[in-house]
Amino acid sequence: MVKQPRTQLYQRDCLEAMSEELQPKSVDVVVTSPPYNLDIDYNTYDDSSERENYLDWIRDWACEVKKVLKDEGSIFLNLGSKPTDPWVPHEVLFELRDLFNLQNEIHWIKSIAIQQESYDESVDVTVGHYKPVNSDRFLNQCQEYLFHLTKEGDVTLDRKAIGVPYKDKSNVSRWQDSDDLRGRGNTWFVPYETIQDRQNQRPHPASFPPGLAEMAIKLHGLDKTDLVLDPFLGIGNSAIAAFRVGVDFVGFEIDEEYLETARARLGQQQRRLF
Ligand SMILES: C[S@@+](CC[C@H](N)C(=O)[O-])C[C@H]1O[C@@H](n2cnc3c(N)ncnc32)[C@H](O)[C@@H]1O
Repeated sequence: MVKQPRTQLYQRDCLEAMSEELQPKSVDVVVTSPPYNLDIDYNTYDDSSERENYLDWIRDWACEVKKVLKDEGSIFLNLGSKPTDPWVPHEVLFELRDLFNLQNEIHWIKSIAIQQESYDESVDVTVGHYKPVNSDRFLNQCQEYLFHLTKEGDVTLDRKAIGVPYKDKSNVSRWQDSDDLRGRGNTWFVPYETIQDRQNQRPHPASFPPGLAEMAIKLHGLDKTDLVLDPFLGIGNSAIAAFRVGVDFVGFEIDEEYLETARARLGQQQRRLF
């Protein structure tokens, strides 16, 4: 029988919890989405700090992450913005530039309209979900960042683990790929699940789909991943992702209700798989 991975979820402030609950250099992958300082209405956390204080706080917890991350570990840092405040992800990245290398910049695509042949053709596929922006100045926000940060910028990745089959099969032999898979690149289309009842099915104002975290963990490489950390757990999507791929996980969340939801959702996942 497949071993059930160990998942530890704590209602704690991650800033203290990381040093108290985790050994130095014990984490292989951090996949997380901190608050974006966009005045989002969280239950407990106040998302409206002065920008300077926010960036200081980002640096404080990032230093703790660096201590618990293995030297060959990966951080996948999800950050978004709003049309009236598009600098946040870039300012955060700038704040962290002397702590980590930006090894890859991944774009999490939430929704896309595609003309398969050329720009002149009519749109033949529109997929995914986004929050519409009612404005004649700004575009709908259909994308967020997933910054891949590492200590030295030299972490080897399992690109084929999230590879996509070649459309033109002649490329399989041309590129001498025995398994008909090419690298996916840095645009990842991962839509939110379609839901009917937000309050019950996605009771959090800023979550990501488990599939995004799952792809990140697989890209780092399952054969070298023993422990995944999310310091900002929310309703537990990174925990669900780690459980699905069979890897131990530890997560911190300050809000009691979000943590309860995370536990309940993880329980459902465990009952489904074991
Ligand atoms: C962007 S959300 C993360 C959502 C999560 N990725 C998901 O899919 O549900 C950020 C979360 O961090 C939590 N938070 C804020 N400050 C925290 C802290 N110091 N320690 C732990 N959690 C914190 C907030 O309550 C919020 O749920």
